[in-house]
Amino acid sequence: MKNTLIIVAHPRTQSLTMALANSYKEAAIKAGNHVEFLDLYRCEKQQPFFTFEKANALDQTEEMSYFQAQIGKADEIVFFFPYWWGSMPAILKNYLDWNLSKGFAFTYENGRPKGLLQGKNVKIFTTTGAPKFIYTLTGANRRLKNMFKEQIVNFCGMKLEQCNIYGGVDTSGKNVEKILSDVPTRI
Ligand SMILES: Cc1cc2nc3c(=O)[nH]c(=O)nc-3n(C[C@H](O)[C@H](O)[C@H](O)COP(=O)(O)O)c2cc1C
Repeated sequence: MKNTLIIVAHPRTQSLTMALANSYKEAAIKAGNHVEFLDLYRCEKQQPFFTFEKANALDQTEEMSYFQAQIGKADEIVFFFPYWWGSMPAILKNYLDWNLSKGFAFTYENGRPKGLLQGKNVKIFTTTGAPKFIYTLTGANRRLKNMFKEQIVNFCGMKLEQCNIYGGVDTSGKNVEKILSDVPTRI
């Protein structure tokens, strides 16, 4: 049995992003996975804007222990977020800043970084207002994928298994149906 941690970052429960996350959850449960669903905007544990005395020696907070325990148990971590300003919503970035801390997600050996979250796979699902062909041509989709892959996933020793970037979501109702039906095939 696979442990799946779904992490959603969207302010509205009635959003396409939330619908995609729920669709993945349903399909993952059907496939026999054990699923944890973390809705960052509505979780009872909230973390203030990231702050520190020493970035690489954070005081361990109760919230960090809670979120890191979820990450620790997961075989796969699946992110759902809308593409905002070429990146992710700030609440998700804040979650990563706090919880992928040194000693938990990475360490240094002989002055070199070493990822500590080995064996975990990551999937990304995001939606852009811009049509896919434009963001493929301009390299915007590639930049997001590479940033996640190199700066976050690989750095922490994990593997990026999928990066699903759906385009043109504000303009076409038909497109939305297609995206929704694609998600369960990505389990
Ligand atoms: C703050 C903000 C920033 C955005 N930045 C971009 C962007 O850089 N590129 C883009 O294609 N769409 C951008 N959009 C549009 C969203 O990507 C789009 O509305 C979203 O993917 C739709 O999914 P949802 O219904 O789940 O919100 C932005 C939207 C917001 C609210």
